[in-house]
Amino acid sequence: MSQSIDALREAALAALGSIHDNDGLSAWRAQYLGRRGAVSGLFGTIGSLPKAERAIFGKRVNALQGELRQAFEGREALIQSQRLARELEEGEIDISLPAQPRRRGGIHPSTRTHREFQQIWAEMGFQVFQSRDVEEDEFNFTLLNLPPHHPARDMQDTFYTTDPRVLLRTHTSPGQIRAMRALGAGGSKPIRVILPGMCYRQEQVTARSEIQFTQVEGLAVGRNIRMSDLKGTIAEFAKRMYSPDARVRYRASYFPFTEPSMEVDVECFLCGGAGCRVCKYTGWLEIAGSGMVHPEVLRNGGYDPSEWSGFAFGMGPERITMLKHGIQDIRYFWGNDLRFLQQF
Ligand code: DAH
Repeated sequence: MSQSIDALREAALAALGSIHDNDGLSAWRAQYLGRRGAVSGLFGTIGSLPKAERAIFGKRVNALQGELRQAFEGREALIQSQRLARELEEGEIDISLPAQPRRRGGIHPSTRTHREFQQIWAEMGFQVFQSRDVEEDEFNFTLLNLPPHHPARDMQDTFYTTDPRVLLRTHTSPGQIRAMRALGAGGSKPIRVILPGMCYRQEQVTARSEIQFTQVEGLAVGRNIRMSDLKGTIAEFAKRMYSPDARVRYRASYFPFTEPSMEVDVECFLCGGAGCRVCKYTGWLEIAGSGMVHPEVLRNGGYDPSEWSGFAFGMGPERITMLKHGIQDIRYFWGNDLRFLQQF
């Protein structure tokens, strides 16, 4: 019995000594130490031995197994260190090369601003409503009180698809109609949403205008919503976004989908209103277009404007990010230049 053990040991160690690569190592391990290998085979014969011999035989096979394992590990380590030495000699690994620095990805500056916006608006009770990038002309314009041939359509140069009824949205405002129809329960429920997303315009690309940019639209519809609610809400947003004593001012303006309409300025957060290059020495920065939702738009959303009213606003996160970080050129945002993106 012990002869078969010795014979196996000898054969195994001899075979191991002539192995020089990983394939050989795995084959050897399967042959001798694997589940169906020679050592397992010896364990399998224990049952056929006379009772008196079993214990001693088992012990020996155990010892053999341990010895072969150790021999295997030794051989494996040897082969590895030989390979490393060879590679170093042959120059496959040039240890004088500088290490590749690991780069961590960052969050896009616009995404950061969007997250800040969403956090603040959520705290103020506005839920996010996701609308679509590819829109119908009807939603982008007509239902927002911009019928075909309305002169204000020229304010936004549009990318059309091959179907002239389908376009890339030029602003997030069409989401107002979709949100009112989706959440308003046929004009019977108040809503409070923000609509963030990408917008597209067929413009000359310059440092100040891009063919794509993001907006955050806001919409509140209820039974007694007034201009003072709009003003108070935006003022509160400005305090939370810029500083607890940020002041805002409103300038009369025109948008087809709001009446009356206003543009919102916040006191320049860089100079505190004293006047600097960024605010062009006015002390104020424009942050939003806004107004009371036009009765026609409410009607198109399913609401009866004699009972319901609402306010809306639209903000440009890129513009706000540019002001905040002194970014001079809007083309950086979607130019995918890591030297720019890595700064955030
Ligand atoms: N949609 C307008 C634009 O892209 C921005 C805007 C102005 C949105 C006034 C509004 C609003 O909701 O009330 O220029």
